[in-house]
Amino acid sequence: MKNDILRCKCIDMSVDGQGIAKSNDLVVFVKEMIKGETADVKIIAEKKNYSFGIIDKLIEPSSHRVKSDCPISYKCGGCDYRYIDYEYQLKLKKEVLVNTFKGYEVKDIIPDDDPYYYRNKVQIPVRDKMMGFYRKFSNDIVEFDDCLIESKLANMIIKDLKKLLIEKHIDSKIRHIVIKYGEGTDELMLCFVVNTFDIDLNEIVDYLTHKYPQIKSVLLNLNDKKTNVILGEKEKLLYGRDHIYDIFDGIKVKISLKSFYQVNHDQMIKLYKKIYELSKVSKDDDVLDLYCGIGTISLYIARYAKHVTGVEIVEAAVNNARDNAKTNNINNCDFVLADARKGMDTYIENKDIVIVDPPRKGISPELIDSFISHGTKKIVYVSCNPATLARDLDLLKDHYNVSPIQPVDMFPFTTHCESLVVLEKK
Ligand SMILES: C[S@@+](CC[C@H](N)C(=O)[O-])C[C@H]1O[C@@H](n2cnc3c(N)ncnc32)[C@H](O)[C@@H]1O
Repeated sequence: MKNDILRCKCIDMSVDGQGIAKSNDLVVFVKEMIKGETADVKIIAEKKNYSFGIIDKLIEPSSHRVKSDCPISYKCGGCDYRYIDYEYQLKLKKEVLVNTFKGYEVKDIIPDDDPYYYRNKVQIPVRDKMMGFYRKFSNDIVEFDDCLIESKLANMIIKDLKKLLIEKHIDSKIRHIVIKYGEGTDELMLCFVVNTFDIDLNEIVDYLTHKYPQIKSVLLNLNDKKTNVILGEKEKLLYGRDHIYDIFDGIKVKISLKSFYQVNHDQMIKLYKKIYELSKVSKDDDVLDLYCGIGTISLYIARYAKHVTGVEIVEAAVNNARDNAKTNNINNCDFVLADARKGMDTYIENKDIVIVDPPRKGISPELIDSFISHGTKKIVYVSCNPATLARDLDLLKDHYNVSPIQPVDMFPFTTHCESLVVLEKK
């Protein structure tokens, strides 16, 4: 019953990082409990076949338990694994992947050598004179001074902004602050998502751009709709350019506000190296890169391929991709603004390898049918969501030999993981 305290043993971890504990036959999902631990658990909610609980008293702690080095991790919920040592985080993530990819081989996760301050994108809600992250499963804002996974520069700017916006009484016109950062160039984009363009930010922009010369772009983005989507349609440039640059593995890329860019610069390079290695791409290969974003995989792979065609649905991203090919003098790449499925049907002829790197929902059944009906020889599938990748592999496995799955830890301290797999036509 609710508020009961039960002695529980944690037998496994859930996909979202909770301990799965048992007290006799009762299954209890317990926040911040680690596999192997015994604890007295307070029941906070009951469902038909399981309950939710919190640790009341830890009886036998795991040898992998560490004191969280973030003062707000217990309420923020962004870093579900903050209280577990990094090596064991990787082991637990791998176990979850092995359970998800039943029937497939899963390799060890490629670790992040420096798992702190890695995120190059931050989206901060502003409300009721507060700026911070949403508490997990809620709309409450949790404020922070030093987020251990966001870039240090973003942390400093957010700290200053909090003071400045409240001092000037203009925080109520701002819905979100979005920051993008290029680790390879030290360039930063700052965007104020506002509910009206009738806002004077000149003094603040002046102050910040003098204090932080790394700021190369300041934008206003108008979003006056009642929606959970952060960015609206209209943009105004307040300072500098409407984009920033980053450099990865010698490739210089332009990034606009609405273009996707991998959040962890160093792990992105490791992921792309693995794509090259596992795809065994050669100068004889014509490659189709579906869901190409600003063309980062295409440009990287173009070094080793005969030709790459990138397909992407966001116009700003395709424009960035075309500019990026020119900037880097890469002449064997073309980019097309299209839906992945349409791009596949239009450009598949004579392609030797198709790379897909879809959003979390994975690829559509129609695209899967298209692979099968076109007899695509080799598919390189990059995924940030193991559940949808497992679903799609099951739909393709009768027609393709599936390589071992190679995970890359793109998101340390969280439960998320990037995976890479190669499928070859049987
Ligand atoms: C996970 S990102 C991958 C981007 C890129 N491959 C990279 O490594 O940076 C997915 C991309 O797919 C794009 N996208 C989403 N739906 C799409 C669709 N139906 N057709 C084509 N591109 C799509 C998004 O805009 C985003 O750029």
